[in-house]
Amino acid sequence: MSATLRLEDMNRSTRHELTPTECTEDRARLGFVMHLKRGLGALGQTRLRALVSARSDEDLPSQSVTADILGQSTAFAAWSSLNRGSQRRMWIALADMVDRQLPALESQAAKLDGREKRGSLRLVPDVELPGYLLETAFHGQPGGYVDTRDERDIRAGLLQEAGGTVYTRGAGTGRKDSKAQAVVRYLDANFPDLRPRRVLDLGCGFGGQTCGYALAYPDAETYGIDLGEAQLRYGHLRAESLGIALHLRQADACAPGFPDGHFDLIISNILLHEVPTASMREIMRQCHRLLAPGGVVIHQDVPTQVDAMPGFARHMALWQTAHNDEPFWTDFAESSVTDALAEAGFNSDAVFEAYVPQVDGPLTWYFVGARH
Ligand SMILES: C[S@@+](CC[C@H](N)C(=O)[O-])C[C@H]1O[C@@H](n2cnc3c(N)ncnc32)[C@H](O)[C@@H]1O
Repeated sequence: MSATLRLEDMNRSTRHELTPTECTEDRARLGFVMHLKRGLGALGQTRLRALVSARSDEDLPSQSVTADILGQSTAFAAWSSLNRGSQRRMWIALADMVDRQLPALESQAAKLDGREKRGSLRLVPDVELPGYLLETAFHGQPGGYVDTRDERDIRAGLLQEAGGTVYTRGAGTGRKDSKAQAVVRYLDANFPDLRPRRVLDLGCGFGGQTCGYALAYPDAETYGIDLGEAQLRYGHLRAESLGIALHLRQADACAPGFPDGHFDLIISNILLHEVPTASMREIMRQCHRLLAPGGVVIHQDVPTQVDAMPGFARHMALWQTAHNDEPFWTDFAESSVTDALAEAGFNSDAVFEAYVPQVDGPLTWYFVGARH
């Protein structure tokens, strides 16, 4: 375990030996995208909201009224196209930056791979990939999460980390506070007696948050599972570069393996809105199976489920389904994770759900989970 790093050092500015270098041209192109995204975010929240209020008879226009008004608005059509276009420009700029440096970064990865390891990586050559992961380039990431070209490939991980950084900064959010920090803060406040010996991060991607959990619980063994081979390879070497021991496994969150009761803490960050509802329910059953008595499961995700969410906010949130390669966003908003937890076997009294304001941004964290 790194002697010096702390949970709060794991954020969108964390650098390591696989961080790509930004040249002047990259900075200019990514700066353009970030400013465009911020401007569009502000325009959506001010001008489009005002337009809906001005044309509606209702004090708080419902989602269907919002959809009708915005559907006829050229301002909304322009906003929507620019929003989609900004995402496309972001990936083109990032793919250019990463691909130009890929041979050098792969050599650097090979060097890291040759060093003594703190953690471990287990890939499964014939792993079964669900159709939705093969067919969807979630939020436009080139090649999607599971794109893997050869046995040295780290590109999907590089893109996921770089994309997340530009995306969150473009939204003006999360510059200091990470998803892992928010989860650990919630757990400390609500389950102060929790002392996990084994932690599992479901759908860990490149392991950015998983590193945070390893630092927050230094006495625990920290595992992460995902299906993307190149992401996991990158995540493993990234963690090694940071001196953090992660145990990454290529596995489906619906069939994660591991013995019953193996973990005291199971977490997912923004996984659930990217899986079909049937998979979300199976994941809850697996969490129930894998948790030791007294253990806690907590999922953090997009806060689209609030029944009382104003129609305008809900309509804007669900824009993602139609325009940002997020096929399950609406299904997730309309399903109940608390019910799924209870159906999976958790005692309803031990199920929790919370909406917590972000400390360094305009968004709200959605937490849902249970104690075994
Ligand atoms: C939005 S990303 C979140 C990554 C990471 N948790 C984070 O917050 O940075 C969703 C991740 O879930 C993974 N994923 C989707 N379906 C999965 C499944 N059935 N089993 C395991 N991982 C899955 C994807 O490969 C992707 O890396």
